[in-house]
Amino acid sequence: MKKLLLASLALTVSTAVFAGKPDAAAGGTKAEQVCASCHSKTGDKPVMPAYPKLAGQYPDYLEKALHDYKSGKRKNPIMAGMAAGLSDEDIRNIAAWYASQTPAVGILHK
Ligand code: HEC
Repeated sequence: MKKLLLASLALTVSTAVFAGKPDAAAGGTKAEQVCASCHSKTGDKPVMPAYPKLAGQYPDYLEKALHDYKSGKRKNPIMAGMAAGLSDEDIRNIAAWYASQTPAVGILHK
């Protein structure tokens, strides 16, 4: 049991190391292709007030939201479809992209 725990710990650590830093530029390219039509590429100018601003949001919040849409834990028919096509790597990269944009979260639509 102890061995198993150690093995899974080692695996977790090596996976984290292997995953490295997210590639925000690749996330930006993906965001432009898939997300920009609603949230805008930089995430600060969504096309409709119903689409949340993503610019400057915490990356772990964005990652969690996208994983939750993908798994069905968070339910929204539009975003379920969007998240379904994203790999774990896409999610990390896109989260890094939107998180690195000039914050617009908390600023009301004009
Ligand atoms: C067709 C329009 C549309 C597209 C395209 C779209 N979204 Fe969304 N997105 C929405 C809507 C509507 C919501 C609000 C859903 C809800 O209430 O849960 C949302 C919510 C979100 C949220 C949760 C924000 C929060 O504050 O909790 C994230 C993160 C997100 N989208 C990321 C993305 C990413 C990344 C892409 C591209 C892969 C994308 N969206 C593509 C319409 C869209």
